[in-house]
Amino acid sequence: MILYACSTNPGKLREFTLAAQQSGITGLELLPLPNIKEVTPPEETGATFQENAAIKALYYSGFTDELVFAEDSGLEVDALGGEPGVFSARYSGTDVTDEANNQLLLENLRHKLNRHGRFVCVIGVAKGGKLLTTVSGAVEGEILRAPQGSNGFGYDPLFFYPPLNQCFGELTTEAKFEVSHRGKAVRALFDWLKRSAPR
Ligand code: IMP
Repeated sequence: MILYACSTNPGKLREFTLAAQQSGITGLELLPLPNIKEVTPPEETGATFQENAAIKALYYSGFTDELVFAEDSGLEVDALGGEPGVFSARYSGTDVTDEANNQLLLENLRHKLNRHGRFVCVIGVAKGGKLLTTVSGAVEGEILRAPQGSNGFGYDPLFFYPPLNQCFGELTTEAKFEVSHRGKAVRALFDWLKRSAPR
């Protein structure tokens, strides 16, 4: 079975590929949507991760007859009223670096004692212009006062995960995927595939 991942983010694609290999689903070929880099991405106009995941999955399913999935994910910080939320990738502007977003987050949290937040990931699955399902995952953590570690991407160097006493920027891809929002959502996707994927 072919399953196209609709993302150009190399960090996310690394995690998806690893998960597919570990899923134990025989014959599953998880690949990036062909030519996705040449496709203009849809506008992420949703107010929630759920809405954006559905927008993306439906949009990209128009470019192939195969099953596709798209995810929307980000960081919610309690002391910032859930920001950056759906604006996680463009927190400090459009076409910005992870470092710029991290700097702004640190700045906005400078005087905050409560540094609790969570990563959330919602995956939409679609085929032939129809949304088939959405699944999600979340992981709770604390925002550090300075970056730590050089693994992962995005806000990973600022996201401390108490159960492992380490920050996501210090974890290997495998260790992060065991506990992450995306790992949870992708495992839910594979459970759905095993139960009810169209053949
Ligand atoms: P999206 O590509 O529109 O879903 O935006 C997701 C953004 O949320 C990324 O660019 C990162 O800034 C942030 N993000 C989502 N998942 C992770 C993660 O696993 N680690 C670090 N940052 C993440």
